[in-house]
Amino acid sequence: MKFFIDTANLDQIREAQALGVLDGVTTNPSLMAKEGITGKNNILKHYVDICTIVEGDVSAEVVSTDFEGMVKEGEELVELHDQIVVKVPMIKDGVKALKYFSDKGIRTNCTLVFSVGQALLAAKAGATYVSPFIGRLDDISTDGLNLIAEIRHIYDNYAFDTQILAASVRHTMHIVDCAKLGADVITGPLSAIEGLLKHPLTDIGLAKFLADYQKGNK
Ligand code: G3P
Repeated sequence: MKFFIDTANLDQIREAQALGVLDGVTTNPSLMAKEGITGKNNILKHYVDICTIVEGDVSAEVVSTDFEGMVKEGEELVELHDQIVVKVPMIKDGVKALKYFSDKGIRTNCTLVFSVGQALLAAKAGATYVSPFIGRLDDISTDGLNLIAEIRHIYDNYAFDTQILAASVRHTMHIVDCAKLGADVITGPLSAIEGLLKHPLTDIGLAKFLADYQKGNK
């Protein structure tokens, strides 16, 4: 299972990379705006900066919504760095763009996926990754994790190569549940990844070991 961090914050990306378990980064226009990265040139430079910090895949999202525009943007993005994966929205022209990129050997991440039908279409179009947004489904009182299970089922039925990238992961148990369901990748905040290492019995046990060591080595 791969761990991606879902942020454009360079400090958090560095921190996740230093932990030694990071496999990549996902970004989107909202995350870029949150970091105050605006204007095409600044955004492109930021992608390169991210690629120099991490060793894995870095998703860079197109902002065009027509086929020609997405193709032009995607081809420009992949020229930036060989770690770039072109993130394409699940819309009609996006599906055409996924197929175009797939035929050219350009890796893609199909974003804004909220149904199993959309995920099936993304796989048929040759997407490298499909990004079901589980947190946003939970937000509207539906079951985000169930979507991961359903996509896993149909991808396994037909041995699709498309990797299930569980996105909009909000907390640690989302990661654990996605692992149980067989998601190939999760992308979430650093806090959710770091939450995996926490257990009160670990802290209590360590405090006791250290106290006993001190007693015996006075
Ligand atoms: O990877 C998609 C993600 O950025 C969306 O997350 O928390 O805005 O729903 P969120």
